[in-house]
Amino acid sequence: MIDENKRPDDMLRITTPALAEQFIADQIAKVRKQVGNGKVLLALSGGVDSSVVAALLLKAIGQQLVCVHVNHGLMRKGESEQVVEVFRNQLKANLIYIDATDRFLDKLAGVADPEAKRKVIGGEFIRVFEEEARKLKDVNFLAQGTIYPDILESHGVKAHHNVGGLPEDLKFQLVEPVKLLFKDEVRVVGSALGLPDGMVFRQPFPGPGLGVRCTGAITRDRLAALRESDAILREEFTKAGLVGKVWQFFTVVPDYRSTGVRNGKRVFDWPVVIRAVNTVDAMSATVPELDWALLKRITDRILAEVPGAGRVLYDLSPKAPATIEWE
Ligand code: XMP
Repeated sequence: MIDENKRPDDMLRITTPALAEQFIADQIAKVRKQVGNGKVLLALSGGVDSSVVAALLLKAIGQQLVCVHVNHGLMRKGESEQVVEVFRNQLKANLIYIDATDRFLDKLAGVADPEAKRKVIGGEFIRVFEEEARKLKDVNFLAQGTIYPDILESHGVKAHHNVGGLPEDLKFQLVEPVKLLFKDEVRVVGSALGLPDGMVFRQPFPGPGLGVRCTGAITRDRLAALRESDAILREEFTKAGLVGKVWQFFTVVPDYRSTGVRNGKRVFDWPVVIRAVNTVDAMSATVPELDWALLKRITDRILAEVPGAGRVLYDLSPKAPATIEWE
């Protein structure tokens, strides 16, 4: 018997647009056969894997696909807007957008322990998604952006969640068109499907989003400082041509205030930490030697433009011993 979760030894590595086109055609036929006239639900985070699955299924079954995008309030600046713009406005997908920001941030208030935060975020995500799934009638299929490393490393579950899945009574048949692909192949397929580069070559972004970079108990003002400083960093890295050259970069705003002076008065503001790393597999990482003028430009902009930011630091710590994220 064929093991559906095992990549056949003779399967070609998808490295070219032509191979991607062939894969897409095969999957379209397969999905149509599997779901017939049925409806398929997909949690669309805007990450590479779920975006590629959405674009693929849209080609295969059009309006039978129902995408749900949950904005947990911990997205980077402009990210949820991009999901709506690309999938609803450009690709005309059936997309339900849920702004659950208040719900998540209220639940997270006062929760300081990193693992407890992850559990709140993951658990709440499942609950919001479940509520939407129950509102929809006649949905029998659930699409997931499972990729081959998920199968190899964590038994088909996306890494790090650890919060259980949907309840038993919500019985769906799974649709997982990219489950035998490696990440680089998913990107080639995404490009062939016409997704924008910004989505296809997006750097990894943890499921708990900015939540693990706003350390300790999350507050709305510090989260706003994190989102703004991260956007400035991304803008300046993009201008400097570092996108695709530095593997992952972001800011962190620790739960700590340090002294400063503004307009002759003492103030107590947050430090903003720049984190930038290069790695092959995220198991170990090095810190790139960034151009001094670039660091200075980013510092000046963050101090001038981000309310509550009083200092900027560059984290020089490699992994190990430091992890890439701060929590
Ligand atoms: P660390 O911090 O462990 O991160 O060196 C390694 C890679 O994994 C990402 N990461 C996460 N991804 N949920 C995710 O989906 C998480 O909870 C999580 N924590 C870390 C991190 O961004 C880096 O790319």
